[in-house]
Amino acid sequence: MDLKIAVLPGDGIGPEISAQGVAVMSAVCEKFGHTVSYEYAICGADAIDKVGNPFPEETFKICMDADAVLFSAVGDPKFDNDPTAKVRPEQGLLAMRKKLGLFANIRPVETFDCLIHKSPLKDELVRGADFICIRELTGGMYFGEKYQDDEKAYDTNAYTRPEIERILEVAYQYALRRRKHLTVVDKANVLASSRLWRQVAKEVAAKYPEVETDYMFVDNAAMRMIQDPKFFDVMVTENTFGDILTDEGSCITGSMGLLPSASTGEHTPVFEPIHGSWPQAKGLNIANPLAQILSVAMLFEYFNLTEEGKLIREAVNASLDADVRTPEIQVEGGAKYGTKEVGEWIVNYIKNA
Ligand code: IPM
Ligand code: MN
Repeated sequence: MDLKIAVLPGDGIGPEISAQGVAVMSAVCEKFGHTVSYEYAICGADAIDKVGNPFPEETFKICMDADAVLFSAVGDPKFDNDPTAKVRPEQGLLAMRKKLGLFANIRPVETFDCLIHKSPLKDELVRGADFICIRELTGGMYFGEKYQDDEKAYDTNAYTRPEIERILEVAYQYALRRRKHLTVVDKANVLASSRLWRQVAKEVAAKYPEVETDYMFVDNAAMRMIQDPKFFDVMVTENTFGDILTDEGSCITGSMGLLPSASTGEHTPVFEPIHGSWPQAKGLNIANPLAQILSVAMLFEYFNLTEEGKLIREAVNASLDADVRTPEIQVEGGAKYGTKEVGEWIVNYIKNA
């Protein structure tokens, strides 16, 4: 296969983990006889500094022109601490999602046996937990009408029937391929938008009798994820709830640095780690590249290149088993490997497989 990849390294640790993702991508393509080309583009704080726009038109064009986007992270504290900043790096991410029509954000929550001890939850609760959160990504409060003055402010949580239907269809496709259990998360006891979600969900559910569908209020879902994460198989929810629940999900597995994601929809799909730009670690060669590398696995799997994805997952597991780990997950007394060294180890594993 011929693959044209747009690479958006972004800010903070982004460029460092991006380099390892690209190296792994190239190694896998070489191994399996695919040709791959990369087009680099700027985004986030980097792009604000360079051209005053966190998602420039040129970057958008490069994304539209590619088969897939390998995205790393955006964000810089100099904007977080400035409430008067007119443009922020995060707006670049939101613009990318909107302009590429990426309405479905797929965030798998998987545990790694050798890292269970890092989880804040008890071993027996978290071992074997394996679910996917499907987060709606281009609607709701993130994009609804907003207003702000010194006395009053609001965000609007608007959803239309087609927006809800299409994300539910995605969720059912995942549920059908997995354990056939879908949990629709909403706040239908309070919010009108959630009542429409539930109404539409009940209609769509009728089309999938082989899937067990249940409905859960978001506060309850947040609690259930801690008390019994193994309850979940596929969960689907609106943009804001999904943002919050996936951070919670990522930390119950033991390390946020390990979870990849895919965003798909109308145009080019985007593959990215779920963690942020960790500006304090920039340039220190300590960031974990595994979430980025696993997002390359998701990229291959999106194109039905399952063997390629499998080899990456196998290489990642092997690196963990060999204790080739970045500092935050290293076993006591074990050698500490850098971002680059972990990436190189995985590339070598792939070459020799
Ligand atoms: C995420 C991030 C973004 C979001 C931020 C950076 C805008 O937290 O991808 O979860 O809120 O969607
Ligand atoms: Mn988030």
